[in-house]
Formats: sequence, C-alpha cells, structure tokens
Amino acid sequence: MTELKNDLFLRACLRQDVERTPVWMMRQAGRYLPQYRATRQGAGGFLNLCKTPELACEVSIQPVELVGVDAAIMFSDILVVPEAMGMELTFGAGEGPKFPTPVCTHADVEALPIPDPEDELGYVMAAIRLIRQELAGRVPLIGFTGSPWTLATYMVEGGGSKNYSIIKSMMYNEPATMHLLLEKLADSVAAYLNAQIANGVQAVQIFDTWGGILTTRDYQEFSLQYMQRIIDQLIREHDGRRVPVIVYTKGGMGWLEAIADTGCDMVGLDWTVDIDQAKARIGDKVALQGNMDPTMLYANPDRIRTEVKDILARFGHGNGHVFNLGHGITPDVPVDHAKAFIQAVKEESSRYHS
Ligand code: CP3
Repeated sequence: MTELKNDLFLRACLRQDVERTPVWMMRQAGRYLPQYRATRQGAGGFLNLCKTPELACEVSIQPVELVGVDAAIMFSDILVVPEAMGMELTFGAGEGPKFPTPVCTHADVEALPIPDPEDELGYVMAAIRLIRQELAGRVPLIGFTGSPWTLATYMVEGGGSKNYSIIKSMMYNEPATMHLLLEKLADSVAAYLNAQIANGVQAVQIFDTWGGILTTRDYQEFSLQYMQRIIDQLIREHDGRRVPVIVYTKGGMGWLEAIADTGCDMVGLDWTVDIDQAKARIGDKVALQGNMDPTMLYANPDRIRTEVKDILARFGHGNGHVFNLGHGITPDVPVDHAKAFIQAVKEESSRYHS
C-alpha cells in the first residue's frame, strides 16, 4: 500500500496530534464544480456516473485537485443500497430521486433481500479501488452510507418528502413493519460498509439526514438504535490502521450525548449548535466534525474567513476537530468561495496546534 502523505483527517478523527485542522466538505463532489457537470453530462446521467468506476473516480478526485480538501469521499449516492435491494430508482433532470414503486406493506418489506455488496454493489467497490490507486496516498478516502431511517424515508415516501406523513403513518400504525425494514437496512448497510472498508475506504460516515424529524424517543427507537446495530457489526481496522466511524444526524444536536455513546469515533455537527458547547458536552469522548453554515459560502471570502476564525476559536486549542460544513455544499456556490473557505481553515488553524 502506498504511504499516506496527508493523514491529518484520520489523525483528527482519532483525536491525535495534528499540525493544523483538516477540512473537507460534505457533498464536495458535485454541481458547484463545472468539471463535475461536464463529466456528468458525458456520463449521460447521474446514475450512470455512479455506476462507471472510471468516471466516479474522476469526480471523487476533482475536489482534491480543484479546491484542496484534506480527504476525498467516494462518489456514489446513499440510494444505491435500496436499488441494490431491487427497488427501481430514477433521478430525473432537475428533480430529486424517485422510487416509482415505494415500499408499502409488510409483505413488501419481507420480500426485500439483503444484497451482497461485492456483487450488486460491485461497481462501488471497483470505484473505491480505482480512487485509492489514483489518489496514490495524497489524502485518505472516506466511504459512506445513509442511515437506515434516512434510507427508509425515501423507500417508503417514494422520494423526498415535505412532512413525512407516509413513513410516520407506518411508524405509528405498523411498528413491526417499520422495525423489520430498519433491521434489514441496518444489516444491508453493515455488510456494505464492511465491503467498502475491505476494498480500501479509510473512514466511513453514516448520513442520518432525516433523523432530526423525529421526536427524542422516536429518534432513539427508529434511527439511533439501527445506527448502533451497524456500528456494532463494523470491522474497524484495515491494513493495520483504525477505520474511524462518523455519525452525522442533521437536526440531532439535542442528542449529541446519545450519538457519542454509540461508540463512533467522530460526531458530525450541523450548524445549529455552537461547537464550543458541543465540545463541552461530548469532546472528551469523540472528535467533532463541522460546522459552518453551508449558506455562509454565499458570503464574500472575507466574511467566510471571519466565520472560519470564529469556529476555530470556539473549538480552541486541542485535538479532535475536522472542519466541515454543517450540511452539504449547495450547487450554486461560487467555486472561488469554496476555495477561500478551505484556504482559510488551512491558514488560520495552525495557531491552535502546537
Ligand atoms: O461529494 C460527496 O459528498 C459524495 C457524493 C454524495 C452524493 N450524495 C452525490 C449526489 C453523497 C455523500 C450523497 C449523499 C446523499 N444522497 C444524502 C445524504 C447527505 C445529504 O446531503 O443530506 C442524501 C439525502 C442523498 C439523496 C439524494 N441524492 C438527493 C436528495 C439528491 C437530489 C438533491 C440534489 O442534491 O440534487 C441526490 C442526487 C445527488 N447525489 C447529486 C450528487 C452529486 C446531484 C445529482 C446530479 O448531479 O444532478
């Protein structure tokens, strides 16, 4: 294996010493980059892009070369897992994802298989091997999945949703059906993440984008419990190195202690919590990732730098911080602003590390 030249990200995930704070952006491979749009156009659609390892590799590396992030994230989507379970998935131009035949009944859930990731998701594994080869140790590669709850929202609603009435009806009226679906998703995702790790990802992030729509009790029962079930199954070491696990629940800042108790290495923060308070609450247990408001990237580079300095100062001295946005970068952000953000973190953070 090639030596990792920049392992700041992995060290920060494990709360080890770093010379400066590492930084990457959720959804960093995406439409704000003209080069991404060109590759996607050539691929003839988003799913083709995901399923062609050479092209997925190309767009994964773009933000490393074009904006200077300290980690790459494999290019794919969380929804390839339900597709691998046999659900038809479409991404229409300008629309979000759609499952034309959503999961409705107990029988629908029972019929869902647990996919073999090396087989049905073999194209993801091929992309991972290629990205590692092309990165040649420049930065670590992050793998990812959606949380069972977040995946279930798309599978049951048939796409994105405003008020989640369909899945909440299932959750309240047919809890056994809901739990069976979440169990199957947790086991599918655990096998998928273990395959990602075996093929070369060096950290994994669980995106629980919709955990925050739940009540505190329902979050525990329908989302957190199943992320725990995944984490308990993960093989967290590969090539003699620990593979850090990151849990990110958008809208879950009231539950940081419970998230930290899953045994993850790092907790992802959205922008609604002050990072100094998050650090006081769970900083003795886990590293923290975040948490600039992604819309700050619409501001001018000076304003962005002021915000970066504020977040760094709030975290203060010490280890265990990976700088990121509090959610994904949006498609209409100017590339120069994304670059200015990354640059500001690199320049302003060394004073907090001796
Ligand atoms: O750069 C990276 O972070 C890696 C790639 C990545 C994508 N999706 C590519 C993508 C990752 C990590 C995801 C995760 C994802 N996908 C999440 C969780 C993270 C989050 O943002 O909350 C969710 C909820 C999805 C589901 C999904 N995929 C939606 C709702 C959409 C449509 C909205 C949108 O942003 O367009 C997608 C499509 C998608 N996934 C795109 C990309 C680059 C845009 C597709 C295109 O190129 O047109």
